[in-house]
Amino acid sequence: RTRAGGAGLDPGLDIDAALLLRRLDEIAAFGARPGLGGITRTGLSDEETAARRYLAARCHEDGLTTHVDQAANLIVRRAGADHDKPVVLLGSHLDTVVDGGRLDGTYGVVAACEVVRVLAQAEVELPVEPVAIAFTNEEGAGFPYPFFGSLALTGKVDVAAATVAAERGGLPLRAALRAAGGDLDTIDAAAWPPGSIACYLELHIEQGPVLEAHGIPIGVVDAITGRTILDIAVQGRQGHAGTTPMALRRDALAVAARVVLAVEELATERGLCAVGTVGRLDAEPNVTNVIPGRVELTAEIRDSRPERLRAAERALTGELARLGSATGIDIAATVRPVTAPTPTTEPARQAIAAAAEALGLAHREMFSSAGHDAQIVSDIAPIGMIFVPSHRGISHAPDEHTDDAHLIAGARTLLHSVLRLAGR
Ligand code: GLV
Ligand code: MN
Ligand code: MN
Ligand code: MN
Repeated sequence: RTRAGGAGLDPGLDIDAALLLRRLDEIAAFGARPGLGGITRTGLSDEETAARRYLAARCHEDGLTTHVDQAANLIVRRAGADHDKPVVLLGSHLDTVVDGGRLDGTYGVVAACEVVRVLAQAEVELPVEPVAIAFTNEEGAGFPYPFFGSLALTGKVDVAAATVAAERGGLPLRAALRAAGGDLDTIDAAAWPPGSIACYLELHIEQGPVLEAHGIPIGVVDAITGRTILDIAVQGRQGHAGTTPMALRRDALAVAARVVLAVEELATERGLCAVGTVGRLDAEPNVTNVIPGRVELTAEIRDSRPERLRAAERALTGELARLGSATGIDIAATVRPVTAPTPTTEPARQAIAAAAEALGLAHREMFSSAGHDAQIVSDIAPIGMIFVPSHRGISHAPDEHTDDAHLIAGARTLLHSVLRLAGR
């Protein structure tokens, strides 16, 4: 192996832009439904498993070594990688929401593999080992235990809670994980020891409007939002929609509607948190001429400050209690483990900014209102995140789009950020 080119950037080192774009196209086929625009490739679904397998095969053809850990995270290394060196870990996730876009997660994974491929091919000797990772089930869309893969990397999967969550999503966790190449019984072995990761870098589309509005190609993330999710169950009484007088009803959906508005008002009228969303709502039996007997829904609140997250959560549970006693309907809420707001690490931010600058790319620091595996990995390693513009800020939707030039610029910035972190 040769040494990388002195101070600053090695002009000979570059990603293969055509390969990057082709891989993105190829992976977009997994979970695409003909005639519909979006991609459904939820965590531990057959589609996610197939995409993981496909990418591993391509990396293998490229001369890289691939490994699937106990949480079904795909790990990609250079052949002959030095396992004693601290790792610069590059990654994101391959799973999507339901009817999502082609870039959220996948872009960061494909670019990470490309960076490792370039560094392997160039036989660059670095004081750190570049490794790519595709985390399992970041979104939690079908298997409502988001960050499953990154939590496993940090040794924080609660197996009992994950199993219950998987059941709620209709997923047999043990079997699905085995089919994906993982193993629930030994999931603790997926944990990396503190100190083994010199830095984790995640490249991602912004998923919001800021970079495009400012005409800036590179965002250097300074912090990532916190998030609290409540699972809420409204228990009414099922009945006949014609014969039951209004005064005698216990309509679970009518009460759930007020819960939806209360969640919205946490962020609007009351200004307690940045955003509040009821994204999922299941009414039973969901039949036109039947009074809904039970509704299950999720309330998701986000903010950059932990004390505001807590205050919004308290306000919501207070409102649920008030609604319950005013209507005589039982409303139960359980709070999932909170994802804390997370700052990125200064040396990572500096490396990204310096890389962008050397590449002639304008950049700005910015906040991430979306959650990312990086905030979980921050438990055991320094983290940095690179954003590229999202057209019209659209994401978690079929028409998510980023121009090719931006995708290429982001991957180049990732490559050169690694070299900066390696002291090149
Ligand atoms: C990202 O997928 C998020 O939900 O923030
Ligand atoms: Mn997402
Ligand atoms: Mn994502
Ligand atoms: Mn996410």
